[in-house]
Amino acid sequence: MRAPAAAVSPFLALSASLLLLLATSVAANGYGGGDAPAGPSGGYGSHDDASSGPKGGDGGEEGGVYHMAAYEKSVDGLDAEFYRKSCPDMEGIVQRAVRKAVDADYTLAASLIRLFFHDFAVEGTDASILIDVPGQSEKYAEASRTLRGFDLIEEIKKEMESKCHATVSCADILTAAARDAATAAGVPYWPLKYGRRDGKDSVAGEADRRVPMGGQSVTDLVRFFESNGLTIMDLVVLSGAHTIGRASCGAVRPALCKLKGAAAPMERQYADFLRRKCGGAGEGEYVELDGVTPTEFDNQYYRNLMRGRGVLDTDMMLLPDSRTGGLVRAFASQPSLQFAQQFAQSMRKLGEAQVLTGNEGEVRRKCSAVNY
Ligand code: HEM
Repeated sequence: MRAPAAAVSPFLALSASLLLLLATSVAANGYGGGDAPAGPSGGYGSHDDASSGPKGGDGGEEGGVYHMAAYEKSVDGLDAEFYRKSCPDMEGIVQRAVRKAVDADYTLAASLIRLFFHDFAVEGTDASILIDVPGQSEKYAEASRTLRGFDLIEEIKKEMESKCHATVSCADILTAAARDAATAAGVPYWPLKYGRRDGKDSVAGEADRRVPMGGQSVTDLVRFFESNGLTIMDLVVLSGAHTIGRASCGAVRPALCKLKGAAAPMERQYADFLRRKCGGAGEGEYVELDGVTPTEFDNQYYRNLMRGRGVLDTDMMLLPDSRTGGLVRAFASQPSLQFAQQFAQSMRKLGEAQVLTGNEGEVRRKCSAVNY
């Protein structure tokens, strides 16, 4: 696990160079369709220029500059100071627990990030994934089969209840835990706003219907992200989470079966390696999603895609598609920090999309059960 990188200010995501690339790419080819990879960029220096950060608006091209969608749009009911009086150590409680857990088992960092994404995928971050009703709730969906991190979130909630009874929602705990897991994995720190409320519904079938698990087309993925208030950029950046963590052989086999005539051919040697690893494997076998630097939160995921070494079919398809290919090439050729900073931005956005606030939902007493 890498040491955490330096903190960045929340709104400065993209370096001027990547913005420039996007502007050129959009102008020349429609979104991200350009063939030319980005040139070398300012790299680590990019976070001292607050003005180069994405601006509000719904995304689109204006006067040759690509404005990112709504990163700075504030969500009613979310506030950085939400627990300042009611539970001042809320972030400390989450951070210490996540650090301790990840120190003991670094694979948990990837699992917590994924848990957060799966929760978001069904009607926004409302902790519905944590509700434990055997056979019925999202946790029991086929899409959730290999999710991990539930116990840790419940432990954190227990401590939270002992210090700040009935105050901090499970959705806020999960959001902070995903941020702290990402930071532990090497993503620059990003500040969060709080005030999410917990949902009361959780249906396994909904998770299986909505959570992308492979087999989708890029159009399906774009539609899924856009229908949840995210952009194509967010899709490409957040898919970069697959630079850490692992996939079960069950998730890898469909890509191996479809290799003939695939739009995104897999490198032969790599396909052979995956076949050897997953060919006759039982349920418990896993492969690293990034076979080169599996524990580094770097841009190797995009470099792998460029070499036909993506593990999931949905990852491989991002390169040949004209809407996403330019961004894959850009992140592959830029220093890793460009990607990591943008990842922090998109994660923040993920945690603010479609959330419940105010009097909606509830603050659960236990994350695994709705209140009586
Ligand atoms: C775009 C559509 C996506 C698809 C189709 C997809 C699919 C998958 C699949 C099939 C796995 C392997 C699961 C297993 O077999 O155990 C996986 C793992 C993972 N996914 Fe995704 N994913 C997507 C997007 C995302 C996003 C947006 C994030 C985070 C923001 C994410 C984070 C992860 C992580 C960290 C892992 C590794 C988990 C671990 O090691 O425990 N994925 N994903």
